[in-house]
Amino acid sequence: METVVSGIRSTGKLHLGNYYGAVQNFVKMQHEYNCFFFIADYHSLTTHPTPDDLHGNVKQVLIEYLAAGIDPEKATIYVQSDVPQIAELYLFLNMNAYMGELERSTSFKDKVRSQPDNVNAGLLTYPVLMAADIIIHKATKVPVGKDQEQHLEMARTFGNRFNRLYNTEYFPESFAFSFSDKLVKVPGLDGKGKMGKSEGEANAVYLSDSVEVIRKKVMRAVSDSGPTEENQPKPEPIQNLFDLMKIVSSADTYSHFDELYNKCQIRYGDFKKQLAEDMIIATEPVREKINAIAADTDYLSKVAKLGAEKARESASKTIREVREIIGFRSF
Ligand code: TRP
Repeated sequence: METVVSGIRSTGKLHLGNYYGAVQNFVKMQHEYNCFFFIADYHSLTTHPTPDDLHGNVKQVLIEYLAAGIDPEKATIYVQSDVPQIAELYLFLNMNAYMGELERSTSFKDKVRSQPDNVNAGLLTYPVLMAADIIIHKATKVPVGKDQEQHLEMARTFGNRFNRLYNTEYFPESFAFSFSDKLVKVPGLDGKGKMGKSEGEANAVYLSDSVEVIRKKVMRAVSDSGPTEENQPKPEPIQNLFDLMKIVSSADTYSHFDELYNKCQIRYGDFKKQLAEDMIIATEPVREKINAIAADTDYLSKVAKLGAEKARESASKTIREVREIIGFRSF
């Protein structure tokens, strides 16, 4: 059976972008593959969270993974920092990761631009840690959104480079995976680009948002004054709302509003109201479970412990073999 690895950085609550871009695929894949889904708390350290925030954010993602339907009996759910073997592999891979290629990574260049006061070495070597996350379990499939494709290419580079250096075929190559033919892009509500945490609270709809908050956010989403010519192309903010509708609403609802738009008869108030209600229905089962799971601390610690054990077993086998390949030998 093929092995699957994916993770989400624990920087707060999960939004619809995480859910439709990643977690829904995790839930489907757990039935067909040997799956490892983790909470990337080492990765979250690049932004220097306080100890309380660090722990709270890890807990939040764990709760939401479970509420979304990841089954700890089927998939291995674990916290990255519970598996120190990942950090050891990261150290080994860092020796063959070059400054030039790390500096050229798009995500690094974005961070240099967005947080010039905190360009730390952890940001630079983020793709190396991500490669270690994946190849520690020798995974071949990685369910991620479109924005992660360059990181996966780097993970293949680092694995292949290790293989070449030690003249082995130890690490397999891993590729981005999605059940649909395209990797999903979930737009935000601010009229530009994808849904994300860094774009501000109003841009993202969170799985834990109350029904009232969802309605308010959607009604306030950026739109425009409406089409003036029949069949005119949709400007980005409107296209984004239609893209969201395609995700959460029925095909009939979508084409109903699409036709109204094309005939210049659309009323954005009705359109947004429908979008909000369908979003609420689509996320209802998850929202309902979040509070119940959050209250069950015994269950959470049982899940985390079981996951850590299973993940460490797989990771320590790899590290044992990697140390052997590199030439660490006992006396
Ligand atoms: N970089 C990913 C993101 O920002 C999170 C991540 C870290 C990840 N390590 C991973 C995803 C390994 C898949 C596999 O979304």
